[in-house]
Amino acid sequence: MRRAVLLFLIFNLAVIAFLVHSVWTLISLLVVSGSEDAISKAELPAPGSTLIDSRPQMIPKIIHQTYINESIPLVWQEAQQSCIDLHSEEDGWEYKLWTDSASADFIQTEYPWFYDTFANYPYPIQRADAIRYFVLHHYGGIYIDLDDGCNRALEPLLSYPAFVRRTVPTGISNDAMGSVPRHPFFTRVIDQLSDYDRSWILPYITVMASTGPLFLSVMWRHWTTEGLNVGDGADGGRIRIIFPDEYNGHSWSFFTHHLGNSWHGADVQFIFWLARNWIFVTVLGFVLGITVLLMGWWIYRRYFVRAPLAGDSSPRWRATGPLKQRLPFWRRISGQSQQDYELIDRHEV
Ligand SMILES: *[C@@H]1O[C@H](CO)[C@@H](O)[C@H](O)[C@H]1NC(C)=O
Repeated sequence: MRRAVLLFLIFNLAVIAFLVHSVWTLISLLVVSGSEDAISKAELPAPGSTLIDSRPQMIPKIIHQTYINESIPLVWQEAQQSCIDLHSEEDGWEYKLWTDSASADFIQTEYPWFYDTFANYPYPIQRADAIRYFVLHHYGGIYIDLDDGCNRALEPLLSYPAFVRRTVPTGISNDAMGSVPRHPFFTRVIDQLSDYDRSWILPYITVMASTGPLFLSVMWRHWTTEGLNVGDGADGGRIRIIFPDEYNGHSWSFFTHHLGNSWHGADVQFIFWLARNWIFVTVLGFVLGITVLLMGWWIYRRYFVRAPLAGDSSPRWRATGPLKQRLPFWRRISGQSQQDYELIDRHEV
């Protein structure tokens, strides 16, 4: 009996350890802030400051954006124009809009080994996600989502080998980011994309985890835990982070946010509902977990542990056997002594 309990506990601990290990990166994303890599207000020159030009500029002056074709919808034209206006050709900036066909051509020419994966992504947004990592890897520059506008010139951000934006509550976003060409992190990112090309049934989760912010956050987490997040020079591996406080709604913020998330489907409603009702979801999770545990225990007792029956183990004998055999499992594990049950049963008779 003791040994049965021990085996059961060891088995369950092994299952739990396996599950925790499988999602460890995700769990750690919840607690890691990345603040040691924050680009703070204090180190950034104010808009228009003469200090801006004296800083080293590593990232090339290229702005990348993506859309299906060249007809940008009206809702995003203002945001797009705000970035174009602040980064003129006279100041040495180049603007690149990656349409679907330009993206496909680019991948086929420059990264032919990725073309099959790229062309076969089930959701167009996965191509829009993937192309930004490749153009940053190839050209370097700054990628900006079409629904993000520019609030000030981005020159100060060119002084870092790579930067991304932090999202609350967890991880990093891929909606605005910059890097030097061939930054080792983006080399890793494009290298891993094919491995993460899996379906997670719900489109939202599939997109997030295969190419989107969740994928990039997992890459970032691996990057930092492997100790590769070092080196501030042009060939350095460090990824600097812009925190929400620095990018939302100040005169010194870099970006503004316009209407967004054009690709969200019905499953997103469900996921947002889960997020809003997280207490209920957590309690439900525990209840389900404990139920599974108890059922596992019951099945284990019922089918794998045979009570020492004196020789005869025929069903008829078992049915009329010692009281222990007839008690439902919840009584058996409830810790009361058998004497009590025998008394109860006698009263009932
Ligand atoms: C661009 O794509 C949009 C959305 O699919 C479509 O409505 C529009 O006709 C396209 N424009 C051109 C010029 O092909």
